[in-house]
Amino acid sequence: MLTRIIYVSRALSPMPLEIKDILLASRKNNPVLGITGALCFLDSNYLQYLEGEASTVNALYQKIEKDPRHSHSKILVHDQISQRAYPKWSMALLTWNEETKAIYRLFNPDSALDAYATDPASVPSLLEAWARTPNWMTL
Ligand SMILES: Cc1cc2nc3c(=O)[nH]c(=O)nc-3n(C[C@H](O)[C@H](O)[C@H](O)COP(=O)(O)O)c2cc1C
Repeated sequence: MLTRIIYVSRALSPMPLEIKDILLASRKNNPVLGITGALCFLDSNYLQYLEGEASTVNALYQKIEKDPRHSHSKILVHDQISQRAYPKWSMALLTWNEETKAIYRLFNPDSALDAYATDPASVPSLLEAWARTPNWMTL
């Protein structure tokens, strides 16, 4: 059974080097685990999308949640999916720019670009809209 988890969390220190280490670990581990997804770094907050087999996704989330490089993780979406949205991304990275902010505002007109105020109902569509843009760093 395929599952997805979308959560937000607060970065401990918003150092680009830290993000690089997280991406390197993701790109090493996720293909072995059959996990795909996306990581967004938004003004010191993370918004991550994880998809894969339910037990694997749940176990990885438990591990990530305990990572001291972030805190206050809050699940926005945790549900079953019929197919992967990002089968080619072991973990792609997106950050704010004018285009990604404009798309965020379309889906969250009342949020002041605050990842924690992201509407859980529309966050999968927000990620799909972002995914159609070239603002991703992939390997
Ligand atoms: C915001 C955030 C997202 C992360 N995402 C992943 C991930 O998708 N896959 C992964 O293996 N580790 C991820 N990590 C890192 C894990 O918490 C952990 O450090 C890593 O899996 C350990 O890898 P290792 O056992 O190969 O050393 C993430 C950490 C943070 C802070």
